[in-house]
Amino acid sequence: MQLYSRDVGDGTPLVLLHAFPLSSAMWLAQREALSARFRVVTPDLRGFGGSPLGTAEPSVDVMADDVAALLDAKGIDRAVVGGLSMGGYITLAFCRRHADRVLGLVLADTKATADTETARAGRLRMAERLEEDKTVDVLLEDLLPRLVGPTTMRQRALIYGRVRGLVQSAPPAAAAWAQRAMAARPDALESLAELRSPALVIHGAEDEITTEEDARAMAGALPNAELTLVPGSGHLTAVEQPQLFNDAVAEFAAALGRTTR
Ligand code: MLT
Repeated sequence: MQLYSRDVGDGTPLVLLHAFPLSSAMWLAQREALSARFRVVTPDLRGFGGSPLGTAEPSVDVMADDVAALLDAKGIDRAVVGGLSMGGYITLAFCRRHADRVLGLVLADTKATADTETARAGRLRMAERLEEDKTVDVLLEDLLPRLVGPTTMRQRALIYGRVRGLVQSAPPAAAAWAQRAMAARPDALESLAELRSPALVIHGAEDEITTEEDARAMAGALPNAELTLVPGSGHLTAVEQPQLFNDAVAEFAAALGRTTR
């Protein structure tokens, strides 16, 4: 399985893993701003954007191994690896399976805990509906309204429109597969204590999907983490407040590049 990715710039590699049910298109502002200082690699995860879905059983480990294979293909040994929400779950799986390749990690609007039984059942119901309907109507009804925060809805309608377009273009089969993969993900909170790499945790102050408590739990459990709270943003900090997001990531990744050169 070879993931499609957009890869721009030179310098310390910075791999950014997208949220559900979006694609590497969500990282447009990061590619534009951060490629002046870093090599920004933004894959389309299995089934999304330009990447095929393949035949593997749903698993965040499979998605993390896809990213490792992509780095192999690009000749990248170590990178700053970051992800937003689902991308964060995959970043944590990548750290479990390929820790020696992680220069630093960025965990944005995500959580390290596994799903509750209720959340897991909800994901499996959503996966079934996606497969039955063969459309993403359920995502537009149930998820889209919670993806961006009230400030973005009020002040930046164009951003909401862009996110809506990205959700509309998600393939239903890939979205169902990813929901099953997320439902099966293990709890990663306990294992955070073993991660020696520096970490940046980012959280949108208006996020309704993950909470500040989730962000603080990760930052508290990681031995070497800093936490950035992003005002005026819901769940999609990188899309809703790109400047604040980019500044935090650039400062973090630049410090790592200096210590590893
Ligand atoms: C995401 O934004 O990637 C999803 O909302 C994550 C999730 O469903 O837990």
